[in-house]
Amino acid sequence: MKSTFAIDLEKMSRTANVGIVVLFLLAGAAGHFASFYFHFLTVAFFLLVLLNVYWRHVQTSHALLANFGWLAQLRYIVESIGPELRQYLFASDTEERPFSRVKRAEVYRKAKGLDATAAFGSLLSYDRTELKLRHSFYPVDEDELEPFDVAIGASRQLDTTYHIRHPIMISAMSYGALGQNAVRALARGAKQAGATMNTGEGGHPKYHLMEGCDLIFQMGTAKFGVRTADGRLDEDKLAALAALDAIKMVEIKLSQGAKPGKGGLLPKEKITPEIAELRGVTMGQDVVSPAHHVECVDAESTVAFIGCVQRVSGLPTGIKFCLGRPDEFRALVQEMKRQGTVPDFITVDGGEGGTGAAPVSFLDEIGLPLFEALPLVHRILLDEGIRDRLAIFASGKLISAGKQLQAMSLGADVAYSARGFLLALGCIQALQCNQNTCPVGITTHQPELQRGLDIATKAQRVANYIEALHHDHVELLAAMGSSSARLLSEENVYAPSQGPVSWPVREPS
Ligand SMILES: Cc1cc2nc3c(=O)[nH]c(=O)nc-3n(C[C@H](O)[C@H](O)[C@H](O)COP(=O)(O)O)c2cc1C
Repeated sequence: MKSTFAIDLEKMSRTANVGIVVLFLLAGAAGHFASFYFHFLTVAFFLLVLLNVYWRHVQTSHALLANFGWLAQLRYIVESIGPELRQYLFASDTEERPFSRVKRAEVYRKAKGLDATAAFGSLLSYDRTELKLRHSFYPVDEDELEPFDVAIGASRQLDTTYHIRHPIMISAMSYGALGQNAVRALARGAKQAGATMNTGEGGHPKYHLMEGCDLIFQMGTAKFGVRTADGRLDEDKLAALAALDAIKMVEIKLSQGAKPGKGGLLPKEKITPEIAELRGVTMGQDVVSPAHHVECVDAESTVAFIGCVQRVSGLPTGIKFCLGRPDEFRALVQEMKRQGTVPDFITVDGGEGGTGAAPVSFLDEIGLPLFEALPLVHRILLDEGIRDRLAIFASGKLISAGKQLQAMSLGADVAYSARGFLLALGCIQALQCNQNTCPVGITTHQPELQRGLDIATKAQRVANYIEALHHDHVELLAAMGSSSARLLSEENVYAPSQGPVSWPVREPS
């Protein structure tokens, strides 16, 4: 039995299909008898009639087009602009993903240095799965707070020990995923604010270095910039990079939250002479990013590799991963103790993390969320007695000081943000980072789109955002009655729906 909807649609499409033939004839008659200019319409309707015949009777790949003709085509067009219609007209201020308009607006205001207060009340509904910070009856005075200072490499007494002075750092995003203007604006903003920026896995950080900020050089599984022809570590290249004044630390990326356990491919068509030079790869050949470093096949070889990078670089060196199996992490930590090699920091990236491009199944279905993973990593390091020998960095939608302090309460020492900084640069969440068509010129290499991203203006916004986050960090800490983020613990957060061990599964919104 046909549904009422199907009967209506059939009638509509029959009328529409006959209708364009009638319109074609009417336009032809008007062109003949009234004015020649009507023949423009005659031609347009004639083309539509021809296309309609093609859609209905020739092509076989689209059933809707074959059954309903140009009305179905209209539906495809409306569907294709659905995201924009929803974003601009229909979605409420709190429902867009990954970041609602309310959350994005908070970053935009901070970045523009606008009044960050709001009136009447919170726009968020009370959610029992969300963490809240616990405040104290006895707030401390803001001027009693310890200055933020996390020393990395101090436990190894390195001459190169690095001091992180802001609670937030710019997380890894490579030149490649980002265009050069975006990289330079971020790096200049970091320099202005005295903050630290991760280079991402794009190889030699040419555009980062132009701005003179402190950098964490990231080495992904393809080891761009520091690879031998067969994809192993080229120790000489790493040593040369590590000797640069701006490079303060090295991060070995084992995995990232958006696509843990997934390698990648840089197709030869995308390898320009500049990218080939910066990444240290050959033009005309596809480059494979393996799912893991070729040197790292088990706990023993992974720890040995960390030790090798520490030795070659002479810099504080850490690892980045998204947690999958806590038992594997515990085994890795036990191997660190056995070999006497402990990374100087561990970056825990939540499964909700962002990316330039990843398969949807990986974005949606794999990897522990940050607020699940952090307490596990922190606890295992405590249990195994090495927590005081390294720092934990955390990333995963930590775009406000409140979320950053929640992460610090669950074990992090410093927060990282990637997408928070894209928003500060003016990202409108068009979700096109993988298409080279970013309308605000951030994740694109098209000069005509990058043109709109003015480096000086956006650098100031990045600096404003860092400073506003630091300001909020101080105010919230004071309200929590704590003189330093390093004193925070699970006691400082409140999870309404559960006890002290199982943390909420829902990601922060
Ligand atoms: C455009 C883009 C490019 C990224 N590139 C890298 C990368 O090169 N290496 C890496 O480890 N993570 C990369 N990430 C992941 C971020 O560093 C970060 O771990 C993740 O997005 C979580 O932080 P967020 O929620 O603040 O964005 C990228 C993310 C984005 C949005």
